[in-house]
Amino acid sequence: MSFLSDAEIVITALEKYHQESISRKKPVIRQEPLETLVSDLDLSAHITKGGLKGDRLAQFLARYLESTTRLLHPAYLAHQVGTSHYAGALAALIDGFTNNPMAIYEMGPGAASIEWTLINWLLEKVGWRPQPLRLTNNTDPIFGGGVLTHGGSLANLTALLAARSRVAPKAWQEGNPGNLVILAPPESHYSISRAAGIMGLGRNAVYPMAVEEQGVIISDKLPEVYARLTDEGKSILAVIANGCSTAAGLYDPIREIGEFCNAQKLWFHIDGAHGASALLSKKHKNRLDGVELADSLIWDAHKLLRTPSLCTAVLVKDARTIDQAFQQEASYIFHDKDQPGFDFIHRTVECTKAGLGLKWFFVLAALGEQGLEKHVDDQYELAAQAFDYIESLPEFSCAAAPQSNILCFRINGSDALQLEIRDKLIAQGDFYLSTTEFGGRRYLRLVFNHPDTNLDDIKRLIKDIRDMVNLN
Ligand SMILES: Cc1ncc(COP(=O)(O)O)c(C=O)c1O
Repeated sequence: MSFLSDAEIVITALEKYHQESISRKKPVIRQEPLETLVSDLDLSAHITKGGLKGDRLAQFLARYLESTTRLLHPAYLAHQVGTSHYAGALAALIDGFTNNPMAIYEMGPGAASIEWTLINWLLEKVGWRPQPLRLTNNTDPIFGGGVLTHGGSLANLTALLAARSRVAPKAWQEGNPGNLVILAPPESHYSISRAAGIMGLGRNAVYPMAVEEQGVIISDKLPEVYARLTDEGKSILAVIANGCSTAAGLYDPIREIGEFCNAQKLWFHIDGAHGASALLSKKHKNRLDGVELADSLIWDAHKLLRTPSLCTAVLVKDARTIDQAFQQEASYIFHDKDQPGFDFIHRTVECTKAGLGLKWFFVLAALGEQGLEKHVDDQYELAAQAFDYIESLPEFSCAAAPQSNILCFRINGSDALQLEIRDKLIAQGDFYLSTTEFGGRRYLRLVFNHPDTNLDDIKRLIKDIRDMVNLN
């Protein structure tokens, strides 16, 4: 049967790929021109002729894997997308094959029950009441809710739609009132202003909050901006905090912002796409102290939690808000039915929705909560060690002491020099890192994600950089 033999070819190739990557034998990144890949992979011929299996499959896969950026390589330090655990990859295979789009329960009861359980597990980590399995007359009407989406960008949009269902409940039918605004730190991820654009609020409706020099919200300034906006007749859709920020991984003061929002009855949203995973760590969860004061939070598993992309949880304190975020009619799916289970379709932009929870669940079930806690702790610790090391070198400086697994640093010199260094590193293929602007200057940026990356890697990286600028 070709499934078994082709699966064996795929798994064998992946095992070799894994070994070559973790042993640092192959370059972490190799950028080839588009025309080379289109030709080497013989893409047009495969599309026309079909029959990609057996030896042809093996040959194709070998060349394809050479063309990948290796997130399984310990020198992968560039972006927030994490190093997958193989258990999550196996789950992706299972989900791909069974193809149960579980947004309606009848199309994937097992996947829906996993998503239900994960959402409740996460709600408890935040400190919100989980969803009861059965609603009875005695059920407290306020319990949390959530849904898994394809990524943090869609999740931020979903959370803001839940906020709008509370703040401007008629907006779904009648359009937005013209005075809705969002308060967000300038360091917020671009998906926030994108969501404002998609929702028809316009990017200009996102008001930048006052921040200190490292871009962290100054919560004491909130009353002032609130008073000014209220005087101007604005209605605040949501106040947004980073937990943590994209560029430098810094956390906003969640408790202070939450207390203000709760007192003024403002919707408080935490973008925890990157940093909410600290809630799994006894050592680092204080970074999100006060998280329970929020109304919504998003949390990516494909960043710090070794889960293959994409898998994000949108969580709300009051399930009714997300249940009213989309007031849709579609007679072929939205109708009364006497069936078991729970439909997530009311909570999501997506109609056909993959069983994303299986990937997160498999990683969790393989490593256990403690395993993921250790992973978060290790990555945060490595960022702290790298900071100490880099700060001890006179030619280098860091943007800020790390609060997560992100560290931004630069070598003395111009912004152009930092970009040149990154280009050279990519061309060499031994290290892959990103850059960002922070405080008006260009920094090299490290995101620690791989369980095998260690301080010696960082020492080698620094040596390579010094060689490049002739400092050694
Ligand atoms: C704070 C924050 N929010 C949202 C996002 C968007 O997440 P995704 O890439 O999963 O759409 C990111 C991604 O970098 C992020 O750092």
